[in-house]
Amino acid sequence: MAGLSNPQMDKIISLCRRRGFIFQSSEIYGGLNACYDYGPLGVELKRNIKNFWWKWMVERRSDIVGLDAAILMASRVWEASGHVSGFTDPLVDCKVCKHRFRSDLIAEPGKCPDCGGELTDIRQFNLMFKTFMGPLEDSASVVYLRPETAQGIYVNYQNVLDSTRQKIPFGIGQIGKAFRNEITPENFIFRTREFEQMEMQFFVKPGTDQEWFEYWKADRQEYYRRLGIRAEKMRFHPHGKDELAHYAAAAFDIEYEFPFGWKELEGIHNRTDFDLTRHKEFSGKDLTYFDEVTRERYMPYIIETSAGADRTVLCVLSDAYEEQKLEKDERTVLHFHPAIAPIKAGIFPLVKKDGMPEVAHRIEEKLRRHFPVFYDESAAVGRRYRRQDEIGTPYCITVDTETLQNETVTVRERDSMTQSRVKIDDLFLLIYNKINEGF
Ligand code: GAP
Repeated sequence: MAGLSNPQMDKIISLCRRRGFIFQSSEIYGGLNACYDYGPLGVELKRNIKNFWWKWMVERRSDIVGLDAAILMASRVWEASGHVSGFTDPLVDCKVCKHRFRSDLIAEPGKCPDCGGELTDIRQFNLMFKTFMGPLEDSASVVYLRPETAQGIYVNYQNVLDSTRQKIPFGIGQIGKAFRNEITPENFIFRTREFEQMEMQFFVKPGTDQEWFEYWKADRQEYYRRLGIRAEKMRFHPHGKDELAHYAAAAFDIEYEFPFGWKELEGIHNRTDFDLTRHKEFSGKDLTYFDEVTRERYMPYIIETSAGADRTVLCVLSDAYEEQKLEKDERTVLHFHPAIAPIKAGIFPLVKKDGMPEVAHRIEEKLRRHFPVFYDESAAVGRRYRRQDEIGTPYCITVDTETLQNETVTVRERDSMTQSRVKIDDLFLLIYNKINEGF
């Protein structure tokens, strides 16, 4: 797997594999470079992150609605968006070791970073994956795997307007797969060829765009705070004119300090009326907006927030990971926000007798109706705690002799490791409230 030279990344990657968060794709065949599979705990973590985003960006608001567009779209979409002609990276090859690089990421121009050999001239390499629709493999049947989810929203903007009662300003949110044939995928799931984006496009009146851009910058920073990401590990980077993508008038990166350095987690862009104007031009459909109150007609501007779901998984794993030295012991712990923890509670009978397993199973059944829990009766309770700490389970519930007398259990909290006595009937609400803290 990529990123093996970084000791902190090595530990995270090894934990991910060992505990079933993330595996290399097609591992039994030697692995497929830059593609990863999410295991039983990883799929829960990623889905919780996507749900957290959806709740914050879509469900919480009346001015944003959701969409799930197809990955395959008409090729004209990508001509209009500028991706066919301009979604390229500058590629160079080393004439000696044959390794391939993005020339804009090389420290010493013309010199191979791996062996010092001479590099070829720069070629522009289009990052879109191309395939064919139908039985013929000719130019008329070319389709692309989408390199961003955004275009699915733009081409449905009129459909959403016509089928809902939304009026500008309003937004459309979407979570879905995107594909880029990256020249240099890197750092585990940070940069891969198949990944998921969580994007929201907010349609506004021209002239109010800068104000909305500022609004979304602040809102997205608040979102990461609520997700529990440490403030000192986040920073914000406005793009200079030379860094802007072809569609953007202004851009702002939210960066996180990963174990391999500060890197982009999310981009916020003022895409102006570029996309809708281009789609109007290429499709021949009038995509202007008529404001019934002011009787004005205009092409909306778009403010975009674009976050990577996989990159957020790596962010929360890096942020949550800690190796703690305790008085007599040590532990590895993932300090996930309860909302995104894959398992919400471990449930243990203190011993495998005296009716304790039966009571623990009864609690398990009751809680499992609402969220994932894990029943464990093997080994000493201390070891069971450690196993749950390592996967970020926020609560461990132990059934003991007192439970049999008064229907209370001990609840041990992951981060503070403190224990309190709670009535069995109060367990659901206690955990439910913690999961929903932040909204
Ligand atoms: N629609 C705008 C857009 O796609 P981007 O900056 O190219 O903008 C947005 O991508 C986000 O998507 C990035 O901040 C990152 O989180 C994620 N992303 C982009 N390329 C990625 C890749 N190869 N692997 C994983 N995540 C990626």
